[in-house]
Amino acid sequence: MKQLLVIGLGLIGGSVALAARPLYTRIVGMDLDPAERQAALSLGVVDAVTEDLASAASAADLILLAVPVLAVESVLRQLQPHLRPETVITDVGSCKVVVAEAAQRVFGHIPTQLVLGHPIAGAEKSGVAAALPDLFQQRKVILTPQAETDPQALAQVRQLWQTCGAEVLEMDMQQHDQVLARTSHLPHLLAYSLVDTLASQDERLEMFRYAAGGFRDFTRIAASDPIMWRDIFLANREATLSALDDFVAGVQRLRSAIDQADGDHLVATFTRAKAARDYFTALLNATGYQKMTDQKINFITQPPSGALQGSIRVPGDKSISHRSIMLGALAEGTTQVKGFLEGEDALATLQTFRDLGVQIEGPHHGEVTIHGVGLHGLQAPKGPLYLGNSGTSMRLLAGILAAQPFDTELTGDASLSKRPMNRVADPLRLMGAKIETQEGGRPPLKITGGQTLRGIDYTLPMASAQVKSCLLLAGLWAEGETSTTEPAPTRDHTERMLRGFGYAVEQQGATARVRSGGQLQATAIDIPADISSATFFLVAAAMTPGSDLTLEHVGINPTRDGVIHILRLMGADIEIQNPREIGGEPVADLRIRATPLKGIDIPVDLVPLAIDEFPALFIAAACAEGTTRLRGAEELRVKESDRIQVMADGLAALGIDCTVVEDGIDIQGRGDQQAVFGSARLPCYHDHRIAMSFAIAGLRSAGSIIIEDCATVNTSFPGFAELARSLGCGLEVQQGDLPPAG
Ligand code: S3P
Repeated sequence: MKQLLVIGLGLIGGSVALAARPLYTRIVGMDLDPAERQAALSLGVVDAVTEDLASAASAADLILLAVPVLAVESVLRQLQPHLRPETVITDVGSCKVVVAEAAQRVFGHIPTQLVLGHPIAGAEKSGVAAALPDLFQQRKVILTPQAETDPQALAQVRQLWQTCGAEVLEMDMQQHDQVLARTSHLPHLLAYSLVDTLASQDERLEMFRYAAGGFRDFTRIAASDPIMWRDIFLANREATLSALDDFVAGVQRLRSAIDQADGDHLVATFTRAKAARDYFTALLNATGYQKMTDQKINFITQPPSGALQGSIRVPGDKSISHRSIMLGALAEGTTQVKGFLEGEDALATLQTFRDLGVQIEGPHHGEVTIHGVGLHGLQAPKGPLYLGNSGTSMRLLAGILAAQPFDTELTGDASLSKRPMNRVADPLRLMGAKIETQEGGRPPLKITGGQTLRGIDYTLPMASAQVKSCLLLAGLWAEGETSTTEPAPTRDHTERMLRGFGYAVEQQGATARVRSGGQLQATAIDIPADISSATFFLVAAAMTPGSDLTLEHVGINPTRDGVIHILRLMGADIEIQNPREIGGEPVADLRIRATPLKGIDIPVDLVPLAIDEFPALFIAAACAEGTTRLRGAEELRVKESDRIQVMADGLAALGIDCTVVEDGIDIQGRGDQQAVFGSARLPCYHDHRIAMSFAIAGLRSAGSIIIEDCATVNTSFPGFAELARSLGCGLEVQQGDLPPAG
């Protein structure tokens, strides 16, 4: 017999009792208010109500404290003598430190069985009669366990909230209180204040008659329980005061802008706020990238799929999108961008420049307007700059920020936090930059501003456009000349775009050189479709019999077109139609028709020119006849994942023979078979290109391929699954947790 004791039968306590029903054989409720007790019983929210705390506490397996935070101490004091050592206690308070301190005073320590929690959910009504079994569905619950917390107690509380349908996150207690002061407590205070101010005006009834729409939306939370909120503000005083001070300062700035008819200030503030809100809404809705949400998206391929036919345009080039924001922000004047990739990586760069004080409008249908601040106009950001999954953002920004007069910190998600940053930090240090990395040269990067940089001549130890670009960008501020010499040609978008902005870049063989002291002049940028995204459909069409597909307006810069050469060597039929040059970048439509593919030894000089395309090319290799050999590709091991090992493991699980070496792989093609791949369930390790590669493998598989946790596809290719489906590919997107594997 498992028993739950709910102390405090309001909206939250009552809703937990309703939702947790499947876990408990008996649910007992306690409340000081006899009317709430009676209502809980008659509505069937609990099996029994009691006033006898002693026996209820000693019989309970789990006790939920759903009382105002400042009442927790007295409840714990009454419970203490009656608790069994294994009884787990949890709470629902909006402040955590004050509850932990109360427990410390009562028990002399924080009990290992005490797991503090906070469901982020509520409703306009209060009281047990308003309780809903689905109040916590799809809501977040933050738990704040400590090192000493008993893991089994933590697991029980997790299970309670998961049974309620909530997504359970963990956070440090202090951080919880700081974050909630800004995201929840401050808005409640403002809502109470706004309604109260309006209500105390003389014509208040008349006022409220017109106060619909915005007023109602903004003040919904002023209908919450006053006692609860009094406790929260008193309990989380310091954090709320600091949030309030920042807010008041912001309102004062807006006040004086209105007073002085400073429309520019208003537009800048509103655009920044709107963009930030859209950005976070997009993140919260669509991705696992920020890890603000643990929302999961899984791909499930559904064979059989037919031939791919028609004409499509994939989203804008990621590399060029990043650079358009960077150079547009640093230019004099206004830069108009078309075809911008609205994927999370490029949006992370865009948001970063907003955080650095640049006014940017959009993106809206791929259009962005950047009000450049010049090479010396960036401002110190208010906090660390979060770059999600984006290595390009972090490495290129390191070059720009190393030369600024202010300090910055660059952070990223789990995948980016594992990637090597010394490849940029070391040469930047040679230029005089002050940069701290974590162990092994990993992010976060802490950059100390105010250093004088000196130009250097740097020979890159690896073929990397990110390193080259980082140094050339730093060179815009470094004394004298900065040059990079690369061991093999890599993408040259930075050099091309700098010239497009009127900045001289000298090219002599493998060496690119810039000199500081110039200016960037704003320009218009038309971004072509990304050949790296087009690759998934080039490979898909090449390997699916009967396909005839055209990819429109694809960037075919010779430093990026390795995939076309490699596929052609494998026997693919690719026609380059309507080649043209747009904004300094070559563009064409690519028509591809399915043909039998054959295994090849991939020429080493093509490797840097197709560096992002290998996961998809490995799928093509598996669909070819004979063996495909790749060497000289050790850089693949330090991409968003170790792309050699992760692909090899996935291919092996799908029944493909492959042999891994340090700098490459041999793949035994099974092109003679109609169904090349078997079924498997595969992780993609936060790597968008791994996810999309296995998704196209589904076109030649005998059964379903399940690809776990594909939210990072949004970093480079939002709408990938929908576009694939529009071509008839069987690809289902499943949201939420998959059942455990096995
Ligand atoms: C990029 C350069 C390449 C590439 C990445 C984008 C760029 O990285 O893999 O996706 O935009 O400069 P490396 O410089 O690490 O090769």
